[in-house]
Amino acid sequence: MLKPMIALTLLGSASLLHAQAPASSQPAPYQIKPVEAYDVSKLPDDHYGRLARYGKELAERTFAHIGPEVANPKMRYAGNNLSCTSCHQNGATKPYAIPWVGVHAAFPQYRAREDEVSTVAERVNGCMERSMAGQPLPLDSREMKAFETYIHFLSKDVPTGAAVTGQGLPRITMPERRAAPLHGAKLYAEKCSACHGANGAGLRAGAAGSASGYTFPPLWGPDSFNNGAGMNRLIFTTSFVYTNMPLGVQHGQPQLSLDDAYDIAAFVLSQPRSQKANLERDFPARWNKPVDAAFPPYVDGAPADQHKYGPFKPLQDNMLKIKDSLLKAPGK
Ligand code: HEC
Ligand code: HEC
Repeated sequence: MLKPMIALTLLGSASLLHAQAPASSQPAPYQIKPVEAYDVSKLPDDHYGRLARYGKELAERTFAHIGPEVANPKMRYAGNNLSCTSCHQNGATKPYAIPWVGVHAAFPQYRAREDEVSTVAERVNGCMERSMAGQPLPLDSREMKAFETYIHFLSKDVPTGAAVTGQGLPRITMPERRAAPLHGAKLYAEKCSACHGANGAGLRAGAAGSASGYTFPPLWGPDSFNNGAGMNRLIFTTSFVYTNMPLGVQHGQPQLSLDDAYDIAAFVLSQPRSQKANLERDFPARWNKPVDAAFPPYVDGAPADQHKYGPFKPLQDNMLKIKDSLLKAPGK
């Protein structure tokens, strides 16, 4: 009889404390709904409804509208035959798979890569130039407006500035060692190659040149994301693979151990892919550059290999020190 009473008392005082919290405290984080809740087909046949539907179609079948194999050369904005939903899974509604739900409420936003405030449209173009290895969409194009409208539709119930549970990728502490790509190669053959191919080239949905994309997307080679993409950073890739692969895995129910995901991701990133020009212009505020952005310049004196394969903790600790000294510099 004693235990429930103690629990009750604790509960009571907890809610009392809660009641005394300032009224301005953050609202509870928004919970992403099941994918059926984001059904663009239920929107009316008006300008907004048509653009939201086109935005979803563009996200899921990017290759068919703005890919490198489409008939009209002027529409070949993407440089590869991926779709946005190759990474932004389930129509960009899957928690912890970089969903777009709430993105409209989170932008404009400071972005370290540009050291500027970016808009939703600029963020879309960030993925166009890197994940899709292509060119930016013109801001006034029907395609950009369609992406923005679909993202707006997905974000409709999310108050401006609210946190969304499952936004981005989960923050996972990496193993404190150099990743082992050779061990990763063995695991890749066992756990990934059935879908993504022994050579990483994926499985095409139709003939090459037919703009029909992939059943299973490529993970490296000329038709994959380029070396400036977020997915080319080992911490991101490990988090994505650990949380979302093999296909069907959900956050909280991983099939791979974190150590295995880390090694497999390192193997994938050790393979060739297209190179983005002018990467040295990324992260102009150098102390802001993520430690796993594995392209020069490196301001911390650590070797390129460590930025690519870890261990990352010493680099993160050191970056914090550099940041402090920069902020304490006279005139700052
Ligand atoms: C190869 C994987 C991949 C593909 C393909 C991809 N993205 Fe992304 N996208 C990412 C990653 C990784 C991030 C997070 C990177 C970061 O935070 O720096 C991201 C972030 C975003 C965000 C911001 C999300 C947020 O929570 O702030 C938007 C919007 C976005 N992508 C749009 C697109 C669009 C539109 C396309 C297709 C034209 C696309 N992406 C294709 C990997 C991808
Ligand atoms: C059953 C098939 C299957 C298996 C097995 C599988 N994947 Fe995937 N993977 C997919 C599909 C399909 C997608 C596209 C996203 C979607 O449709 O949800 C994808 C997307 C990806 C992406 C992002 C898109 C891209 O092209 O870069 C990465 C990275 C990835 N998988 C890595 C892995 C790794 C590493 C493994 C092994 C641990 C693995 N996958 C196992 C089917 C699979």
